[in-house]
Amino acid sequence: MRESDNLRFTKFPLRNGSGAIPALGFGTLIPDPIATRNATKAALEAGFRALDTAERYRTENEVGEAMQEVFNAGKIRREDVFVATKLWNTNHRPERVRPAFEASLKKLQLDYLDLYLIHTPFAFQPGDVQDPRDANGNVIYDRGVTLLETWGALEELVNEGKCKAIGLSDVGLEKVKEIFEAATIKPAVVHVESHPYLPEWELLDYCEKNGIVFQAFAALGHSSEPNLLADPVITAIAHRVGKTPAQVALAWAIQRGTALLTTSKTLSRIAENFDVSTLPEDAMRKINEGINSRVRFNSVVEAGVPGFIPRGR
Ligand SMILES: NC(=O)c1ccc[n+]([C@@H]2O[C@H](COP(=O)([O-])OP(=O)(O)OC[C@H]3O[C@@H](n4cnc5c(N)ncnc54)[C@H](OP(=O)(O)O)[C@@H]3O)[C@@H](O)[C@H]2O)c1
Repeated sequence: MRESDNLRFTKFPLRNGSGAIPALGFGTLIPDPIATRNATKAALEAGFRALDTAERYRTENEVGEAMQEVFNAGKIRREDVFVATKLWNTNHRPERVRPAFEASLKKLQLDYLDLYLIHTPFAFQPGDVQDPRDANGNVIYDRGVTLLETWGALEELVNEGKCKAIGLSDVGLEKVKEIFEAATIKPAVVHVESHPYLPEWELLDYCEKNGIVFQAFAALGHSSEPNLLADPVITAIAHRVGKTPAQVALAWAIQRGTALLTTSKTLSRIAENFDVSTLPEDAMRKINEGINSRVRFNSVVEAGVPGFIPRGR
């Protein structure tokens, strides 16, 4: 296997002087709480310095416990880790934002966040039920609040120093433009599904021109079919450069200028996913030009209902 260079330590600066986000991020959307805790700890020990969670994943407690364990062991300091979580759809009303934020901080056992994202642009009926449905099983939306009003409440958290940066998740270009143009504090990060089967070039271009970091989730295609990691273009490059298909997909993401999130509950894969190195230019070109399949694995952008979270959770 080829020796690793510094690609895995890449960081992208965030606007408004709010620090920098490590390109390689570890996501914690893992169904089992014990696996979440073990994987988060293993990710920090393997070298990951960016963690992603969400109120909706119900993993904030375990992520908090894993971080505390690692911080208390004196191996890594709080300020060395970039921690992001997300406001859920049922908390879009401005008066619900602060309590939701404080509850997340408490579960994470932190006193500030590096990044707070609005999980989706869809407001659901406010309340404690995360997936509110009517008698016919249809989602109950909240028409009484705009995304810009929710954004205003996030801006207050930044002004108070409680979180360093704010951003949008599961949005299309039009929504990003709408908030970017109207916001006082502009979005620092746009967090969307992206991988070689869904490169989102237009959105990436807009983000680059406007100083927004594009963060790709499902960077390995979420183990879904068609299997990105079995794509012949990816496997041929992996074979040629002496890396695994996962390492090729992750390197591609960083080299084209995006931060990314990948997840694994398997310890050997966690280490593998941190061990990325720079791909040759022609390999980048082959992925960009030789992969023409277009697949969105997560339908969350359509209606705000998460595609990867098991029902009932
Ligand atoms: N905002 C949103 O709506 C949203 C939606 C989805 C995800 N996210 C965030 O993005 C993160 C990443 O998304 P994702 O879970 O779809 O990531 P992903 O890395 O594309 O997919 C994870 C899957 O890939 C497998 N895997 C990991 N490393 C591998 C390797 N080296 N070789 C082969 N298979 C490998 C994992 O299996 P094992 O676990 O069995 O090893 C797991 O099934 C989430 O955890 C979450 O934080 C956000």
